Amino acid sequence: MELNDILLNLKIVMFGGKGGVGKTSCASSSAIWAAEHGRKTLIISTDPAHSLGDSLGMKLDPGKPTQVKDVENLYALEINSKADLSDFEGLGNMNLLRGTGMPGMEELPMIGDLGELASMSPPGIDEALAFAKVLEFIETEHDYDLIIFDTAPTGHTLRFLSLPETLSGWIGKFIKLKLKIGNIFGVIKNFFSRGDEDEEENSLELLETLNNSIEKARADLMDPQVNSFVIVMIPEEMAVAETGRLLNELIKFDIPVSNIVVNQLFPETEKMCDFCQTRRRMQSSHLKRIRNTFGDKMGKNIIQVPLFREEVREYAKLKEMADFLIP
Ligand SMILES: Nc1ncnc2c1ncn2[C@@H]1O[C@H](COP(=O)(O)OP(=O)(O)OP(=O)(O)O)[C@@H](O)[C@H]1O
Ligand SMILES: [Mg+2]
Repeated sequence: MELNDILLNLKIVMFGGKGGVGKTSCASSSAIWAAEHGRKTLIISTDPAHSLGDSLGMKLDPGKPTQVKDVENLYALEINSKADLSDFEGLGNMNLLRGTGMPGMEELPMIGDLGELASMSPPGIDEALAFAKVLEFIETEHDYDLIIFDTAPTGHTLRFLSLPETLSGWIGKFIKLKLKIGNIFGVIKNFFSRGDEDEEENSLELLETLNNSIEKARADLMDPQVNSFVIVMIPEEMAVAETGRLLNELIKFDIPVSNIVVNQLFPETEKMCDFCQTRRRMQSSHLKRIRNTFGDKMGKNIIQVPLFREEVREYAKLKEMADFLIP
């Protein structure tokens, strides 16, 4: 599927690749194009080191979609990776189960409890909670036609994409356990006469809702009628190797990929200096390799974008970039 069809028809498009190759620029540029082609678009940065606001040349309100100046249909949002843990306070109620000496309870410490995990902040929990925020935009009702993700450099993105699996496995186990020992709640309740049943029910409901939306989001991210991942790269040795790894991982997670953007190509001009000629030659040989390596999967959707004289920032330049991305 070509990038213009993707931007006009799908609900989610993710841009990813190695650090500094032009992910944010390509994502912003595509978002402007889509918005100006009539799609109400939200571009979300999930990179903890945000630069989406800089790319668009504006300050974004923290935590909520900001209308992008000069582009009627476009909104931008930077998601804080340190999600607000207080959103998940209700999960702390699981602590009630501990230390009661009831049969089955000894399983709990092994599985852990979300509330406690959140308060301990083991590595990854902040990302997991940020992902829950992302789910809000994928899985709950909103009036955007298209959501574009400007993702973090490769390693981070892959962890992010594997989160639905990790989380739903984790929550699923928890729910099963909770159901298994569910009938013990009555006993505990009578034993302590604390009347906390409602809160317990709320925790379980919250977990179930979270689990359902994670499962649904995973299905959406895997559906080629819903989502497509666009890999951005530069024509250099290390980028080719990393792109291969990224592609394999995306295939492993069943995330549809149909476009690779090869960015920052030295333009061929009549009078090229020695330096530019040498770089262009180096890039050309890598471009050939890229076509050989990824051509089978991408066909003609290997998009070439030249190195611009100036930085690619703000409306006019991003529009210019779009002329290459969507010719
Ligand atoms: N084709 C291009 N020509 C000239 N400059 C470019 C081009 N593409 C990107 N840039 C510039 O390169 C820098 C990095 O681009 P960008 O921020 O889009 O990369 P990124 O992959 O999002 O980086 P990070 O991994 O840090 O998020 C920016 O200053 C941008 O303006
Ligand atoms: Mg970026």
